[in-house]
Amino acid sequence: MAAGGVTADGRARVLADGNEIPLLGFGVWQVPDGRECTDAVRSALAAGYRHIDTAQAYGNEESVGRALRDSGLPREDVFITTKFHPGRKDPEAEAQRSLERLGVEYVDLYIVHWPQGGATWAWDGMQRAHERRYARSIGVSNFSVSELDEVRAAADTAPAVNQVQFSPFAYRRGLLDACEERGVVIEAYSPLGTGRHLGDRAVGAIAARVGRTPAQVLIRWCVQRDLVVLPKSTHRERIEENAQVFDFTLAEDDVAALDALDRTGGADRALERTWW
Ligand code: A2P
Repeated sequence: MAAGGVTADGRARVLADGNEIPLLGFGVWQVPDGRECTDAVRSALAAGYRHIDTAQAYGNEESVGRALRDSGLPREDVFITTKFHPGRKDPEAEAQRSLERLGVEYVDLYIVHWPQGGATWAWDGMQRAHERRYARSIGVSNFSVSELDEVRAAADTAPAVNQVQFSPFAYRRGLLDACEERGVVIEAYSPLGTGRHLGDRAVGAIAARVGRTPAQVLIRWCVQRDLVVLPKSTHRERIEENAQVFDFTLAEDDVAALDALDRTGGADRALERTWW
């Protein structure tokens, strides 16, 4: 089954496996474990986010779990993603450890964090984690089109998502088109360029024209492309601001002006350089 469209309320996307994923997620990369992370996730859940994105490599799964329990929200109301650290050996065993740290019986999405050691070796273990229902959906992150195709060729269950650095400045058109053709939903990490894009003059001009903030414009650009988007902040006001993106629309001209900011040349790569 190919990945489906956006749900009737415009806030979630249907994955190829039939599961729904909220378009807006809260990313906790570089949020220190402990109070800072628990407070940030608590603020996000209070502000209406129903999707939290963590990873084994972030070292803050316990804080995410604590905030989830503190929120009092039913487990099934919050979409939780974690990522397999590919420096480790066994995705299935590591999934169990993540579940213990998070204090949950399953994650909604479990993804290979980056293609260290090759694109395919971890996928068997990812599928086992899926079969054992540790994860409802499985996917990858930082995979190029060719790496994605290697996994798909070897897979019984294909990756449902590819989480990559994506924004108007990293508008990886080749990767996006290829993922859409293959029924793989793109998740945009660093949608604000880890903060760097917020001061851009073109983004600022559009924000001023539509009466919104630069962060909202950048996040809305992803939402309007039906992408899952994962902004990060440790400040409550910003967390709330970043969630106010479903009550305005960017005009076609503004979307085109943002598209033109791309610096990747419409890449089908996920990364300009690797860190492993
Ligand atoms: P902070 O966490 O101190 O609030 P990205 O989502 O691309 O990774 O960007 C995250 C960075 O952008 C963080 O440094 C975060 O700072 C900052 N940030 C997030 N939202 C906003 C906002 N609405 N206004 C200003 N800065 C923001």
